[in-house]
This record gives sequence, structure tokens and C-alpha cells, in this order.
Amino acid sequence: MPQVTETVVDAGAPDVAPPPLPALFIRLGGKENLVKIVDSLLANVSADAELKKAFAKTTGPKADHLKTMLVDQLCELSGGGCKYSGKPMREAHKGMKITDSQWKAFLVDLDYALQENKIADADRAELAGLLGPLKEEMTEAPAIKK
Ligand code: HEM
Repeated sequence: MPQVTETVVDAGAPDVAPPPLPALFIRLGGKENLVKIVDSLLANVSADAELKKAFAKTTGPKADHLKTMLVDQLCELSGGGCKYSGKPMREAHKGMKITDSQWKAFLVDLDYALQENKIADADRAELAGLLGPLKEEMTEAPAIKK
């Protein structure tokens, strides 16, 4: 009896991966929209009881500089190919004694700014996730009482 080997090809599910998502930068609306987002963020921050004092002296050219730096930083972080040229986060916030609740307030103000600019939930969460690791560079650990 000749041996007959039958090969069964199991096609299974069609081998089509979902298309990759465009870079977060694109989902945030590109640089033009980042400028709007940062504008809303800074407006929110200066109306926020938790934060307005910290930013009270950031006016005129200083506010313009902060805006440019934030746009570049968010552009770079989200894969937009910009190069952030400002100070490292630890240095930029040195001595400010930023508290945990100020940090949270800033992220809430950013989230409102993203919502105002119609950014999807998942994209807002992704950006917050990229900023999360910067927290320990900016906030001061509460003093340990002996
Ligand atoms: C995700 C959180 C934050 C990010 C990404 C961020 C980013 C930045 C950047 C890029 C600069 C400009 C650095 C430069 O000029 O080279 C800056 C400056 C500054 N940040 Fe932040 N920051 C954050 C949170 C905060 C918080 C929570 C506070 C205060 C409570 C704060 C207060 C300031 C102040 C006062 C300046 C200096 C503005 C000036 O030059 O007058 N930041 N920050």
C-alpha cells in the first residue's frame, strides 16, 4: 500500500493585522492643534486655584517662551519629530516645591484642554501616560516626619 500523506492547510483567520495607528502627534491634530491645546492648558492653569500662584509671574515673553517649550515638548513626546530645546524638567522646576496635588491639577487642566480640542479618550490617556514618568523629576517628596 503506498503511503499517502495528506497535507491539510488550515487557513485559519485571515492574516491581516489591523493597520498601525498613526503617531499620537497626528491623533493630537499636529503642531497647529498642539498650539491650541497648550493655549487652553495655560488658560486653565491661570484660572486654577491650585496653580495660578505658581504661574503668576509667567507673563509676556516668559509666557510665550513657556508656550513654545510646551508645544515642542509635547510634539517630541508624541512622535512629531520636534526637538525640545528647553531645560530638563528637574532643572526647570527646581525649588518650586511642586506638590502631588499641584501635579495632579496640572494634568487635569491638560486633560480639559485636550477635551476642549476634541481629542479622543484613548489619545488623552496615552499622552498622560507619556507624561507620568516626569512626575518624580518635578515634584518634591513630602518631608518624612521623625
Ligand atoms: C506634566 C507636567 C508639566 C510639564 C510637562 C511642564 C513643562 C514645563 C516646561 C517645558 C517648562 C519650560 C522650561 C524652559 O523654559 O526651559 C516649564 C516651566 C515652568 N513650569 Fe512646568 N511643567 C509641568 C508641570 C508644572 C507644575 C505642576 C507647575 C507648578 C505647580 C509648573 C510650573 C512651572 C513654572 C512656574 C515654570 C517657569 C515659567 C517661567 O519661566 O516663568 N510646571 N514647565
